[in-house]
Amino acid sequence: MSEMFLEQLDYKGARVLVVDDNPMNVELVADNLEQEGYAVERAFSGEEALRKVDAASFDLVLLDVMMPGMNGYEVCERLKRDEKTHLLPVVMITALEEREDRIRGIAAGADDFIHKPFDRAELLVRVKACIRIKRLTDDLETAEAILVALGNAIDAKDAYTEGHAERVGHYSVAIGRRLGLSYDRLRNLRLGGVLHDIGKIGVPEAILNKPGPLTTEEFEVMKKHPEIGERICAPLKSMRPILPIIRSHHERPNGSGYPDGLSGEDIPLEARIVCLADIYDALATTRSYKKAFPRERCIEILREDAAKGMLDPNVVEAFVGYLAEREEAKRR
Ligand SMILES: [Fe+2]
Repeated sequence: MSEMFLEQLDYKGARVLVVDDNPMNVELVADNLEQEGYAVERAFSGEEALRKVDAASFDLVLLDVMMPGMNGYEVCERLKRDEKTHLLPVVMITALEEREDRIRGIAAGADDFIHKPFDRAELLVRVKACIRIKRLTDDLETAEAILVALGNAIDAKDAYTEGHAERVGHYSVAIGRRLGLSYDRLRNLRLGGVLHDIGKIGVPEAILNKPGPLTTEEFEVMKKHPEIGERICAPLKSMRPILPIIRSHHERPNGSGYPDGLSGEDIPLEARIVCLADIYDALATTRSYKKAFPRERCIEILREDAAKGMLDPNVVEAFVGYLAEREEAKRR
């Protein structure tokens, strides 16, 4: 099979949304794309574009800038702010040549620009390049989704820990938010939280589910799970920022943790956060060996641990702040 045929196979049927308030412009772009085998949807306002993106999945949005009502920048900004659509490529079609307008487009998160009146060859090359990137991101997302499913599968084996990984991911993001971390770091926290114990796949069931305390030898085996987890996720490039979280989620600020005996700020902040979220969830839920502690008791234990150098006090207080806020929201 020739490479060219493979390329055609790849992009035929890719779904493109063309957005312009001028129907003639929409048809012009749509015709060109349909001739190449793309599946084109049309929208004639920013509001209609957002409705269509919400209702179906697309590989690319070609977006006019100047539209009555919601303009192209605003549509682009909204798509890029929404977690469901932030990876959807947006190409802005603009008659504007002004530098400021281009900068505004970049600030809104546009992936590329095409100038009106457009050149057919340029349009097709840019569309293809964006769809290629979209397909690659889709593949990566699939790989991540498989790992996340595996992370959840570990908990699902035990009725007591079901949902633990997801909750750790959730709490970690909540703490990160209160500490003002960037979007990228919050994303890492979510994934790192969900995947922190993925290395338990490599620990024998007899040790994982042992009802009584572990022997020294058994504990040595258990202590391998952060490194095993790191190795499982290492081949995926998109997982690189998560690896230190997985490796260091059992490190303690006073240096008593494992596997590296790191202390203080040598432990990545994200790992300190996931460590706390992991411990809190174990305290706040029923386990085979203990009942769930009430929230106030959990907070006391976390603060005692922080005083002993077992947890980062700033992270503990950020989490206590989040819990208070959540309670407040529930009351309202
Ligand atoms: Fe762990």
